[in-house]
Amino acid sequence: MRTEVLKFSEESAQKAAEILKNGGIVAIPTETVYGLAANALDENAVRSIFAAKGRPQDNPLIVHISEIEMMKPLVSDVPELAKKLAERFWPGPLTMIFNKTSAVPDVTSGGLSTAAVRMPKNEAARAIIEKCGFPLAAPSANTSGKPSPTAAEHVFEDMNGKIPLIIDGGECAVGVESTVICFKDGKIHILRPGGITKEMLEEFGEVEVDKAVEAAPAPDEKVISPGMKYKHYSPKAEVFIVDAHGDKFADYCRKNGGGKTLFLSCGEREGFLDYGETSEIQARRLFSLLRLSDEKGAERVFVEMPSKEGVGLAVYNRLLRAAGFKIINVEQYE
Ligand code: TXA
Ligand code: MG
Repeated sequence: MRTEVLKFSEESAQKAAEILKNGGIVAIPTETVYGLAANALDENAVRSIFAAKGRPQDNPLIVHISEIEMMKPLVSDVPELAKKLAERFWPGPLTMIFNKTSAVPDVTSGGLSTAAVRMPKNEAARAIIEKCGFPLAAPSANTSGKPSPTAAEHVFEDMNGKIPLIIDGGECAVGVESTVICFKDGKIHILRPGGITKEMLEEFGEVEVDKAVEAAPAPDEKVISPGMKYKHYSPKAEVFIVDAHGDKFADYCRKNGGGKTLFLSCGEREGFLDYGETSEIQARRLFSLLRLSDEKGAERVFVEMPSKEGVGLAVYNRLLRAAGFKIINVEQYE
């Protein structure tokens, strides 16, 4: 199959909608990362997403809507708190989990009785959903296990020959996937941190962060969000988080990073790749730098420990998975 890449426009959005209406899949930009979209209500269309990504069947997909009305037939028992959050943060990088109705096929929900719903802010994503008139199931448009795509070129690397069309909407504004939450005992429970931060959600009530966000689940542990249990976001190189900052981090790298080791520092430094001084910049750059490490043929990547505040928690959560939970405690080497 030839994979066409078209810049977002009225015509390319129309073309995408036609493919989607015929049960096909199309990669679309969102403000978080690129998504691999299909009609969320069409089982066969959704199956082709799993096939293109090589994604495990039990890992559910997020259902994307362009207006709140679209959600009504899909889910039930929506708490008042969720309505407030929708008013404040939709459209935007927040995904909420509710009980699903029979309108959402089991393939879409990975066999779960719940469905994850999000209303993206990106103009292209919204235009395409509107033209379709049905919700789109869309996981990140990477091959399962690889870093999520934040530019159309990344999608092309992974999906060339597997899908008919990629809509190019430029670089993603947020750069890490949406915050995924569910509601437990009246509390907001964060399953995956993202662009809508814990601090932002705290204005609306009590917030707890799932323990899987910062720790590796035990091999036989049942996790609420199936995506949490897989190794993720990984380039071919072995990634290590180095628990040190500034000169201490740089010294460690220079002493221990021989050969094909790349260094990612929080800010500019001679001989290092800069992944950004703020958490927002780090979120935008992280995935593309992990992909770059493969292009450069790196064997190892040492990453300076990021801040865990605000969107930093999302950066840290993705890095932990990219690193397979390997953190180097520098003190031990002194
Ligand atoms: O920003 C995003 O969320 C992007 C863009 C394309 O919208 N999408 C995305 O999808 O990141 P994906 O499939 O790569 O990640 C969805 C995560 C997975 O960890 C999955 O396990 C979890 O959400 N999830 C989806 N439905 C769920 C449900 N019903 N219950 C618990 N977790 C769910
Ligand atoms: Mg993903």
